[in-house]
Amino acid sequence: MPTPLVFAASCADYRRQARQRLPRFLFDYIDGGAGDEHTLHANQADFAALRLRQRVLKDVSQCDTRCTLLGQSLAMPLVLAPIGMAGLYARRGEAQAARAAAALKVPFSLSTVGICSVAEVHAASQTPCWFQLYMLRDRAIVADLLQHIWQQGCRTLVFTIDLAVAGVRHRDQRNGLLTQHWTGKLSKAWQLAQRPQWLWDVGLRGKPHQFANLAEQATAPHDLNQFKAWLDQQFDPSVTWQDITWLRQQWPGTLVLKGILDCADVEPACDSGADALVLSNHGGRQLDDVASTISQLPMIAAQIDGRVPLLIDGGVRSGADLLKACALGANAVMVGRPWAWALAAGGQAGVEQWLRGWQHELRVAMALCGIDSLSQANSTLLKP
Ligand SMILES: Cc1cc2nc3c(=O)[nH]c(=O)nc-3n(C[C@H](O)[C@H](O)[C@H](O)COP(=O)(O)O)c2cc1C
Repeated sequence: MPTPLVFAASCADYRRQARQRLPRFLFDYIDGGAGDEHTLHANQADFAALRLRQRVLKDVSQCDTRCTLLGQSLAMPLVLAPIGMAGLYARRGEAQAARAAAALKVPFSLSTVGICSVAEVHAASQTPCWFQLYMLRDRAIVADLLQHIWQQGCRTLVFTIDLAVAGVRHRDQRNGLLTQHWTGKLSKAWQLAQRPQWLWDVGLRGKPHQFANLAEQATAPHDLNQFKAWLDQQFDPSVTWQDITWLRQQWPGTLVLKGILDCADVEPACDSGADALVLSNHGGRQLDDVASTISQLPMIAAQIDGRVPLLIDGGVRSGADLLKACALGANAVMVGRPWAWALAAGGQAGVEQWLRGWQHELRVAMALCGIDSLSQANSTLLKP
């Protein structure tokens, strides 16, 4: 087990500790974005550029960060975003993160390409997770998977729509993450040798390393490289809005579409039968030079006009950012890299500590902006 985190207060601290613990190719897989990473940086920079208004003498003795999202009561408007391969960032990582999320009363989303199965995550957290789905060419596999996770108790499906094809990620190419060539393998072996503690704790004791939710369907589920090749063939770039209609018929629970970024896609999304939308550019990992998510939030929120709840992700790095997102029209945020860094840095304890820290930051930001309930968060909290 990683030791508790004494010196972690901000996102940057968790990120630094994750960098010290993880093999380089894994740290860069989490940290990196597409192309020259302009959008990755813009996501964060555009949040940082927003200015809150400091207000005084408002009686903020009872600041309440709680909210209701899709029928669930949350301690704060935050959902752990789906992150692939999180079981490699700490031993049985998804199970640890889900336990932390349950302790802090926020939802945990399990990726299609998570290492732990839904059953393992549920057994660990005693709470139903949200399940994220990528569409596969073989719809029978998708239908089976949906039935399986429903039987396991999942009721919220996050369908990711911004990955028609995988983005071009230079760091993964440089580190040999994606190559089968011997030079790439050698480079990865060298990177692993620099992290003996990870090798022992996660690499050896954290097995099996497989995409557990697809293990029955795939060939060679224990070989992550072969498995990835199978999955790459299965990713379906032909998906259209008609497939959402199909999905809606297959899934009786709550359906969340993740990956809206452009106003032109809002109407079909609202008409698709989805119960919520996530404004997302996949954390700047897909098409570099698309807009940051927070810059699009006012327009997208205005167009949705309350028809469905709207979540946003990409660049949320503090409790104050969370308040900014709510002020500009989001019902909640999804957060990706910060929980992966906290997990790598300190396992379940790290994620709990990070979540507690953000809840505190949110409360402080609310108090110093002069509101005591998130229902009062609107654009007047921000400088024009
Ligand atoms: C390492 C990593 C893996 C990811 N894997 C998935 C995934 O499997 N499914 C998915 O829908 N999104 C995935 N995402 C995108 C996140 O769900 C989320 O949209 C993004 O991380 C938000 O940006 P942030 O990291 O700045 O918070 C991944 C992101 C990262 C950083």
